[in-house]
Amino acid sequence: MQEHKIINVEEAASLLSAGEVVVIPTETVYGLAANMYNEAALSKIYALKGRPSSNPLIVHIPAADHIYKVAINVPEIALTLAEVFWPGPLTMVLEKREDVSDIISAGQSTVAVRIPDHPLALALLNCIDFPLAAPSANPSNYISPTTIEHVQRGFRNAGLPMVDGGPCTKGIESTVIGFGNNSIVIYRYGAIAVEALEFVSGLPVLPPEFTDKTPSPGMTIKHYSPHTKVIVTDHVQGFLNSNIYRRTGILSLSNFFTHPSICKHIRLSETGNLDEAARNLFASLHEMDTCDLDCIICEKMPEMGLGKAINDRLQRAAANQ
Ligand code: TXA
Ligand code: MG
Repeated sequence: MQEHKIINVEEAASLLSAGEVVVIPTETVYGLAANMYNEAALSKIYALKGRPSSNPLIVHIPAADHIYKVAINVPEIALTLAEVFWPGPLTMVLEKREDVSDIISAGQSTVAVRIPDHPLALALLNCIDFPLAAPSANPSNYISPTTIEHVQRGFRNAGLPMVDGGPCTKGIESTVIGFGNNSIVIYRYGAIAVEALEFVSGLPVLPPEFTDKTPSPGMTIKHYSPHTKVIVTDHVQGFLNSNIYRRTGILSLSNFFTHPSICKHIRLSETGNLDEAARNLFASLHEMDTCDLDCIICEKMPEMGLGKAINDRLQRAAANQ
C-alpha cells in the first residue's frame, strides 16, 4: 500500500506546477486539486475519483479580479455577490473563456468559480500563477471528506500528497448558482443559505426547473452515500417502532430517540443550530459507516437556512439504496 504524504503549501505549489494532483483543505470540504491549464492533471482527477466526464469541475481563484482568467460577460450581480460572499462557499456558474478546458466544463459553455475561505488554500493560490480546478476529494458518489482522515480512507492506495488544514469549518459544499432572467438559479444547495442570497441580491432564488436553465449535470440523484443503507424520515420514532433492523443508527438534529435496536445515536447539534448540524453532517455519516449498522435513520431537518442543504445531501444519500 502506498503511503499518503502530508506536505506543506510550498511543496504543494511545486507539485501542482509539475502537473501533480494534490489534496487541499477548504472551508467546505477537502478538494482534489490540479492546475487548470494542465489537461493530463485534470484527467487524473476524473480517473482517481471514478467521476463521469459529464460532471464539470469548480475552478478556485485567489481574488475576485481573477474571475476574468476563466469567465467572460460577468453580470454585475455576480460581482456584487462576490464582494459580499468571497472568500467563501459561493460558487458562480459563468460564461467561460475559450481557453478553459472542456475537461473542466464537461463540454459546456460555462465554468464554475469560487474563492475558498481557508488560510492554507488562499496561501497556496497566492503562490502559484494558475487557478486550481478541484472537486471534492472523495471517490465519486461516496460521502464528502471534511478531515484529512476521511480523504485517506477514501483513497487508500493512491499515495496522494495532501495538505492538512484540520477539520473543515463549514463541513458542507459550496452553494452553486447561475444567473437567469431576473433570478438566481440554484444548481446545488450548500453552505450559503438561499435566504442570504435573496436578501443580498433582492432576486428570487429558483431551482433550474423553474427557469430556462437545465439542472447541473453533476446533480445526479444518488450521491454522498455511505455504504450503509440510509433512510430519511420526519417520523423517526414511528419508523423505529416498526423497525425490522437489528442494528440501527440514528442521526437527528437535536432530538433523542430510544429503541432497543439503536446502536449509535448522533445529534448533529444539541441546540438545534443548523450551521453546526451542517458542519457535523459528513463526519457523522463517515463515523456511522464504520459502526457495522444495518441502517442509518436520519431525521429530516427543517427546510430553512442550511437545513435545505442538509436535507438535499440526506435525500441523495438515501436514493436508490
Ligand atoms: O465546496 C465545494 O464546492 C467543493 C470545494 C473543494 O470547493 N467542491 C465541490 O466540487 O464540491 P464537486 O466537483 O464535488 O461539485 C461541483 C458541483 C457539481 O455539482 C457540478 O455539477 C457543479 O458544481 N458544476 C460545476 N461546473 C458547473 C457548470 N459549469 N454548470 C453547472 N454546474 C456546475
Ligand atoms: Mg463532490
